[in-house]
Amino acid sequence: MCESADHPAAEAATLAGNAAPGQIADRLLDWYDRHGRALPWRAPPGSPAPAPYRVWLSEIMLQQTTVAAVRDYFHRFTARWPDVHALAAADDAEVMAEWAGLGYYARARNLLATARAVAAAGPFPDTRDGLQALPGIGPYTAAAIAAIAFDRPETVVDGNVERVVARLFAVQTPLPAAKKPLTVLAGRLTPAQRPGDFAQAMMDLGATICTPRSPACGICPLMDLCAARAAGIQADLPRRSPKRPRPTRHGTVWVARDDRHVLVDHRPARGLLGGTLGFPTTGWDGTDLPPPLDAAWQEAGEVRHVLTHFDLRLQVMLAALPPRAAVVRGSLMPRRDLNPQSLPGLMRKVWALAR
Ligand code: ADE
Repeated sequence: MCESADHPAAEAATLAGNAAPGQIADRLLDWYDRHGRALPWRAPPGSPAPAPYRVWLSEIMLQQTTVAAVRDYFHRFTARWPDVHALAAADDAEVMAEWAGLGYYARARNLLATARAVAAAGPFPDTRDGLQALPGIGPYTAAAIAAIAFDRPETVVDGNVERVVARLFAVQTPLPAAKKPLTVLAGRLTPAQRPGDFAQAMMDLGATICTPRSPACGICPLMDLCAARAAGIQADLPRRSPKRPRPTRHGTVWVARDDRHVLVDHRPARGLLGGTLGFPTTGWDGTDLPPPLDAAWQEAGEVRHVLTHFDLRLQVMLAALPPRAAVVRGSLMPRRDLNPQSLPGLMRKVWALAR
């Protein structure tokens, strides 16, 4: 009897669900050795794992942030603070300023807290549980550091990995419900040898070949094992439950300046953009606050910014600093000391509009 390639039974025998143990990992690692991305926090194939400090720093920076955005920050941080002791001894404001523009500022505060805890108590923990006890390290990041820095066979599942696994096994359950089953499937693929390289190979495959739209299946090392490809549904996976629309919040920001000074304010240490430098604002949740000083305020326009859980629209009010202004919020800073590069993205937009 002749079995054609489009006969379901013939296909099923060759797909990911029926692959020999280790086959997928072996192929992927082989591909990674030849085509993995050379990134500043990675060790080249075959060389010892990179220092845990570099792995940890990169994973914190890569939380909710793209590789392209992280590269320069990683170079600057490691040039300025080459190890965990140097970072632990750094001035908080300098670290916040160096982080400016990368977003999610709680990460920078937790970075310092973790650096100081590690510098005080000994080397980096080398297990997932030990890592997860540190500030700013959740289950995903703990698994990534344990696998990449310490060769622990942890399973690392980010958005790229979810997509690769959903396609390989043609998982039809929509995200986020599919997260658990996808993690179980990814766990079965994780090899005992080179789990960190395997995790990064999955990420790279997702970022460069198994991309959200128009995946490059023709050059994929797992092409013949991919159940979604066999069914022609790869571009439809992973499915997603409809998202709730993001809310929009409104507020006001005040910029008062003359030739020599500008009124600045630090955000409260806790909460959104916590501890960062900017200009006085109202709350962003409908809380009203009066202007930070009496002046001839004029509306300069609106700044829009996307934050984690909502879109923000800030009305920008502009005024010349009156002589001997009675400042009720914030403080006066010499203009030459205000470096826009040390402002978070939102406040850079505000300053650009104000100028
Ligand atoms: N995203 C999170 N961690 C990463 C890593 N180690 N390499 C590439 N992308 C990543």
